[in-house]
Amino acid sequence: AYAVTEACIRCKYTDCVAVCPVDCFYEGETMLVINPDECIDCGVCEPECPAEAIIPDTAEGSARWVALNGRLAAQWPGITDKRDAPADAEDWKGIPDKLQFLPE
Ligand code: SF4
Ligand code: F3S
Repeated sequence: AYAVTEACIRCKYTDCVAVCPVDCFYEGETMLVINPDECIDCGVCEPECPAEAIIPDTAEGSARWVALNGRLAAQWPGITDKRDAPADAEDWKGIPDKLQFLPE
């Protein structure tokens, strides 16, 4: 499965949603996650993300993100259409260690 990392937090461009063939993205207040049980590993979302927030589960250190995605996907509603990013999305792009800004 692919997973959304903390690079998505407060960027939330949602370009990923527009291309996913199985609609397996779920939406929280500040980021999206992928349901790892529904993701078919097609990989088309990865290059679409302007924040480079999406990684495959073959990437080093991906296990914690896959686990986080699975946990949050079970709690959050699905999202199937692209939306406008937050007005300050560009300010947050590339900022490291954003997990602290994830409200739960
Ligand atoms: Fe959807 Fe494919 Fe991305 Fe998985 S890898 S979330 S199926 S677009
Ligand atoms: Fe997040 Fe990138 Fe999608 S910023 S909402 S993973 S396009």
